[in-house]
Amino acid sequence: MTRRCKTAILISGSGTNLQAFIDRVRSGELGLELSVVFSNKPDAYGLVRAIDAGIPTACIEHGQFPDRESFDRAVASKLDTWQPELLVLAGFMRILSAAFVAHYAGKILNIHPALLPRFPGLDTHQRVLDAGDEWHGSTVHFVTEELDGGPRILQGRLPIIGGETAEQLAARVQRVEHQIYPEAAGWVGEGRVEFRDGLAWIDGAPADEPIVQTYDHDGVLT
Ligand code: GAR
Repeated sequence: MTRRCKTAILISGSGTNLQAFIDRVRSGELGLELSVVFSNKPDAYGLVRAIDAGIPTACIEHGQFPDRESFDRAVASKLDTWQPELLVLAGFMRILSAAFVAHYAGKILNIHPALLPRFPGLDTHQRVLDAGDEWHGSTVHFVTEELDGGPRILQGRLPIIGGETAEQLAARVQRVEHQIYPEAAGWVGEGRVEFRDGLAWIDGAPADEPIVQTYDHDGVLT
């Protein structure tokens, strides 16, 4: 059997993206080993999902540390117990320090609920509706020191429905996320995608643009 990429998933909340990873690994579609699920919040429901799936969990509350750097050092030292080869940020609502990003250089993935470079930051769904865009979606990218600015790997886009609320749009975007995030992480795990010289390399070539998948209103790949 081929060796599976040891993966740590970092969450702060519900963990529906984590669940998508768990389901794909369980069904044999995803060649990652989910080594540990880490949360900065003890009541994150994603921890329950991990325990139910038999995945080790760890939790450190950021409020107990005087600054970002000391919290991040504690997290890295905890995570390194599992020697992760890939870190998957799945709704981990913390800005990472430069030292943390450097410690795991080229090994951290994030999913951001917008078609980056449009709408970095928070409250993306309402901002997209306010802007009157026709398309919205989510982006899987490597993490660098620049917030939501690292090289993009895969985007899932879907059309905006006239009159929908930010909550309705968020739910449709999440359906897309549950498909694109495990897929892109699997590519990294198998070496098809890598971070080199500050760029995402896809199938052996530097990629200026991410791969884009288009989904219909219901979040089904077209
Ligand atoms: C996801 O929609 C993800 O895109 C977003 O948090 C959600 C977590 O949901 N991430 C960010 O906004 C990062 N800036 P989940 O806990 O159900 O997976």
